[in-house]
Amino acid sequence: MKQHTFTIITGASMGIGKAFSFECAAKGMNLLLVALPDAQLEEVKRELESSFSVTVLIFPLDLTQNGGVESLYQFCLDKKLSIQMLINNAGMGAGGRFENIALEKYLQIMDLNNKAMVLMCHYFLPLLQKESHSYILNMSSMEATLPLPYKAVYTGTKNFVYAFSLALREELKKGPVSVTVVCPGPVLTNPDALRRADAHGNRAKWIMASSEQVAKSGLEGLLQGKAVIVPGRVNQVLVRMMKLMPTSLKMNLLERLFRVYSTH
Ligand SMILES: NC(=O)c1ccc[n+]([C@@H]2O[C@H](COP(=O)([O-])OP(=O)(O)OC[C@H]3O[C@@H](n4cnc5c(N)ncnc54)[C@H](OP(=O)(O)O)[C@@H]3O)[C@@H](O)[C@H]2O)c1
Repeated sequence: MKQHTFTIITGASMGIGKAFSFECAAKGMNLLLVALPDAQLEEVKRELESSFSVTVLIFPLDLTQNGGVESLYQFCLDKKLSIQMLINNAGMGAGGRFENIALEKYLQIMDLNNKAMVLMCHYFLPLLQKESHSYILNMSSMEATLPLPYKAVYTGTKNFVYAFSLALREELKKGPVSVTVVCPGPVLTNPDALRRADAHGNRAKWIMASSEQVAKSGLEGLLQGKAVIVPGRVNQVLVRMMKLMPTSLKMNLLERLFRVYSTH
C-alpha cells in the first residue's frame, strides 16, 4: 500500500470494524474511520495513534442520514485524500418473528446494510479507480447463503450485499479495483450477538469467531484479491455442505435450529 493513501472503514468504533482498524494500522495504512457520533471513535483514534505510526482521521456520521455519504465524500475531496481501500463494515440486524418487529427498524436495517453500502461504492469508486491497485470489502454474513428464518430482513440484506459484491467484482475485473465479500458466522461483538450465542448454547462455539479473527482473514483475503471469504474452517465446510442440500430440507432444518430467535 502507498503511504499517503487512506483506507476508509465504516462502523469502526467497535466490534469487527474496530478490529479491521487495528489490522490495517498494523500494516501501516492511514485510516479514515466512520461511525455514529459518540465518544468511542475518538477513543479508537487515540488507541491507534499510540500504537502505530499512521495518520488516523475520524468522521462521525450516521450513514443512513440523507446526504451523509455525500458529506464524507466531500470531506475526502476537500482534504485531497487518495483512497486505496474501502471497508463497508457498518451493519445492523434484528431477530424475531417478522411481524413482531417494527417496520421502522426494518427500514433502518435496509438503509444501513444496503443503501449506504451502495452509496459508498458509487461515490468512492472514481477515487479508487485513480489508484493502480485498490480494494472494496463489503461485509455480508454466512446468512447470505443460509437464509435464516426469524431474521428474514437481515438475511435478505446480507444476501443483497453478497450478490451485489460478486456482480460488481465481475464488472470491475479488468480495472484496478478488486471487490471482496466477507461472510462471517457468529461473532461476539454486541449484546444482540451475545443473546443469540447464548440461545444456542455449546453448539454455537463451533462456528464462533472473534472480531480479530474475522478482520485478519478478511484483510488477508482482500489483499490476495479473493472473491468470497468465509472465516473459519468449520464455517467453510458448513456452507459447502448446506449448498448440496435440497432447499426445502435445508430451510426446514434452519427453521428448527433458529426457532429460538422467534421469541427474541
Ligand atoms: N456480530 C456478528 O455475529 C456478525 C456476523 C456476521 C456478519 N456481521 C456483520 O459485520 C458487521 C459488523 O458487525 P459488528 O457485530 O461488529 O457490529 P457492532 O459491534 O454492532 O458495531 C457496529 C458498528 O457500526 C456503526 N454503526 C451502526 N449504525 C451506524 C450508522 N447508521 N451510521 C454509521 N455507523 C453506524 C456502530 O457505530 P457506534 O459504535 O457509534 O454505534 C459500530 O461502529 C455488520 O455489517 C454485521 O452485519 C456481524
